[in-house]
Amino acid sequence: MKNIQISPSILSADFSQLGKEIKRLEEGGADLIHVDVMDGHFVPNITIGPPVIKTLRNYTKLPFDVHLMISPVHKYIKNFAEAGSDIITIHPEATDNLIESIQLIKKLKKKVGISLNPNTEIVVIEKILKEIDLVLIMSVFPGFGGQKFIPEVIEKIKKLHQIKKNNNLRFDIEVDGGINFSNSKEVILAGANILVSGTTIFKENKGDIKKNIETLRSM
Ligand code: DX5
Ligand code: ZN
Repeated sequence: MKNIQISPSILSADFSQLGKEIKRLEEGGADLIHVDVMDGHFVPNITIGPPVIKTLRNYTKLPFDVHLMISPVHKYIKNFAEAGSDIITIHPEATDNLIESIQLIKKLKKKVGISLNPNTEIVVIEKILKEIDLVLIMSVFPGFGGQKFIPEVIEKIKKLHQIKKNNNLRFDIEVDGGINFSNSKEVILAGANILVSGTTIFKENKGDIKKNIETLRSM
């Protein structure tokens, strides 16, 4: 059985208690902490920026899986690296020069993630897959937690997994948006090895984070 990692999104946490919420996630067995950064421009919602991430760094040693939904992203990459991000994930549409942005993330010694919206095709990154550490497949249109999983994305995960196998590549396949106990198995079987989840982890089983993480991981 392959190793499945769970990256809870703090978008569904109590924002007045973020430090405590992150500790709860760590105690509940999270592998990563998914931080959704939104600018009200690339997506129609606004969340948090580098100063908050820097403060949260004191609450856990778990890697920060930082999902940047901001544009133009390039000039902020350094700030997010210095704030304590471990994985920096960007959308190809949010930068004028994807290669330069990837190189900058590498230069800052952070893992590179590229996120594909439901309507962004794999071909956009196919030639550069060996340069990146993680592909974040969006299974909702980014902007809000609690949306419904788009089932067509399963085929995309399968296709990406096939490309990964055929070319002997090592990037992680992470899936984000609408993951729940009914679709997690299919997502894992399609080839994902990291699942992001906000609503399911914080709200199911009366907020029993440990149980919800275990259930997602075990399919
Ligand atoms: C969507 C974000 C997510 C998402 C996850 O823009 O990137 O990380 O909110 O939350 P759920 O699991 O509630 O869909
Ligand atoms: Zn996200």
